[in-house]
Amino acid sequence: MKAIRIHAFGGPEQMQLDEVPRPVPAADEILVKVYATSVNPADYIIRQGGNEILRPYLKLPLGLGLDAAGIVEETGSEVRDFKKGDRVYGVPNFPGDGSYAEYLTAKASQFVLMPRNISFIEAGSLPSCALTAWNGIVDLGKVQTGQRVLIHGAAGGVGSLAVQFAKAMGAYVIGTASPHNFDFLKEHGADEAIDYNKQSFDDLHGKIDVVFNASPVRDHAARLKSADVLKEGGIFVCTQLDSPFAEELTTALASKNARAAHVGVGLAYASNLSGTTQLIEAGKVKAVVSKIYPLQQAADAHRESETKHVRGKIVLKIRDEN
Ligand SMILES: NC(=O)c1ccc[n+]([C@@H]2O[C@H](COP(=O)([O-])OP(=O)(O)OC[C@H]3O[C@@H](n4cnc5c(N)ncnc54)[C@H](OP(=O)(O)O)[C@@H]3O)[C@@H](O)[C@H]2O)c1
Repeated sequence: MKAIRIHAFGGPEQMQLDEVPRPVPAADEILVKVYATSVNPADYIIRQGGNEILRPYLKLPLGLGLDAAGIVEETGSEVRDFKKGDRVYGVPNFPGDGSYAEYLTAKASQFVLMPRNISFIEAGSLPSCALTAWNGIVDLGKVQTGQRVLIHGAAGGVGSLAVQFAKAMGAYVIGTASPHNFDFLKEHGADEAIDYNKQSFDDLHGKIDVVFNASPVRDHAARLKSADVLKEGGIFVCTQLDSPFAEELTTALASKNARAAHVGVGLAYASNLSGTTQLIEAGKVKAVVSKIYPLQQAADAHRESETKHVRGKIVLKIRDEN
């Protein structure tokens, strides 16, 4: 079978389409025939050699890719939750051997049944971003009806789902993006859009219950402005995992009894996709796929993702649906 792997850390030119043996599932694993995967910032961060959290886990040669949507081809002897032919999606083996591959094995617990009303391309775009956005908006942010939520990076993979989740929870949603994405944000449920390059956040001082930072750019000034817009007792949830938060930020938050949190809790559990599955099946949330590349062109997909201006997701198609 074919898989995109790296044999050395570095740029997109390190990505090779290798011929590798089809894996065999262990007792608690499933073999998935993969139809689609997608590109996440973690993929190019891993390709470059990882960050302080990921580096110890990365062993070469390494298969890339977080997300997978496909069909269960075989089940291990202890697997009870799936049968051959089930359509599943999840985040297998992170941060180990990845999903840019024609087949993969992973623990059955890392997959759930796909929403019944979407394609593999749509399902392959969702798992890691949906887990992250759900963790930020629902688990940590605890967004409630009538609350005001500010989402940085609202047009991206995580942000475009966070906007829809916050709207589905009944919030008033404000998203930041470049102006060409304002209509897109409003079509997906944002009540207001702010150009992060030009507009200050002065009008929002003390008016926001939850700030969800889903920007791929670490920006200290934007974090301080986030503290400023929060209400007493509000929360700043951050997808960027640099830790600890700067003292200037924690002091600003403490002055109004607000706090900061990193996404993370529950991210590893595919069962946390159940809320996403329900909202998609109810027609309240849609996958946002802006571009599809064939697996062989994964390096070009990485180059595009590294511009940090992708709208929604880039999907890698591994095989045709029919
Ligand atoms: N994907 C995951 O599974 C996952 C999991 C955990 C954590 N994270 C982290 O979450 C963050 C977002 O990930 P992602 O997959 O959503 O990234 P992404 O899709 O690559 O983000 C692209 C978006 O970021 C926006 N953007 C670029 N510069 C910005 C800035 N200075 N301020 C605000 N927005 C800006 C762009 O908006 P415009 O084009 O409109 O300018 C674009 O829509 C990353 O730090 C990532 O490491 C991601």
